[in-house]
Amino acid sequence: MKIVHTTAALRAELGGAGRCAFVPTMGNLHEGHLALVRQARAHGLPVVASIFVNRLQFAPHEDFDRYPRTLARDAELLGPAGCDLVFAPDEAELYPRPQTFKVQPDPALADILEGAFRPGFFTGVCTVVMKLFACVQPAVAVFGRKDYQQLMVVRRMAEQFALPLRIEAGDTVRAADGLALSSRNGYLDAAQRAEALALPQALQALARAALAGGGTDLAALEAQAMAGLAARGWQPDYLCVRRRADLQPPVDAAREAGALVVLGAARLGSTRLIDNVEV
Ligand code: PAF
Repeated sequence: MKIVHTTAALRAELGGAGRCAFVPTMGNLHEGHLALVRQARAHGLPVVASIFVNRLQFAPHEDFDRYPRTLARDAELLGPAGCDLVFAPDEAELYPRPQTFKVQPDPALADILEGAFRPGFFTGVCTVVMKLFACVQPAVAVFGRKDYQQLMVVRRMAEQFALPLRIEAGDTVRAADGLALSSRNGYLDAAQRAEALALPQALQALARAALAGGGTDLAALEAQAMAGLAARGWQPDYLCVRRRADLQPPVDAAREAGALVVLGAARLGSTRLIDNVEV
């Protein structure tokens, strides 16, 4: 496996557009990323993974500076998982001049949920993903369902700009106890790591309550779920039942089973965790 740091070197390795499967990452890799690489491998194309911590998608108060940069360890993991080429540009390579042109996603999809609590986040994600696509020119790109809204926003961007590639979804990988793997889990101390399980459990409980119907309105169930987490010391941003198709609230959750996703984001100490479950 090779590591390249410039777009010129990347292009020289790939020798043309549409010749690879791509997994974009911000590094600090875990089994969830490696599962995406293995999925990309199944296309029978060379697999490229990018490692780039994208300043544009972090608000000034967020964890851009302390986000772990672990390139050597990431490279050790990527090779055995089936990655052929790592593209690890630095900021001066990817953004040689300030990135003043940005990709502005549809607010109906990007200003809700994550976008409501992290204004500008999806503009940052879309801008870097568009740029990475332009550098890598993949035939297929694999994004995890763990970042459910991100996957939808990127899919919509690819459709709207008629990008010549396929966006594929990879399943969320969970620890044995059910916690979704995330680079940010590394910020948790032992007690927080044990408590973190309360988020997927709250999502499952909300899913069950929403599907049971029984006349209780969804907003009340969501508020209850948030209050439950808050009582345990969390600061929840949202726990919501939404349609998979457009992330809008269902009219009747019980009747829309099979087409819904329950999404949540909450802060435990200074660590913000997100998760979702399709129901
Ligand atoms: O999901 C991530 O790790 C990032 O948002 C991505 C897609 C690599 C863009 O920086």
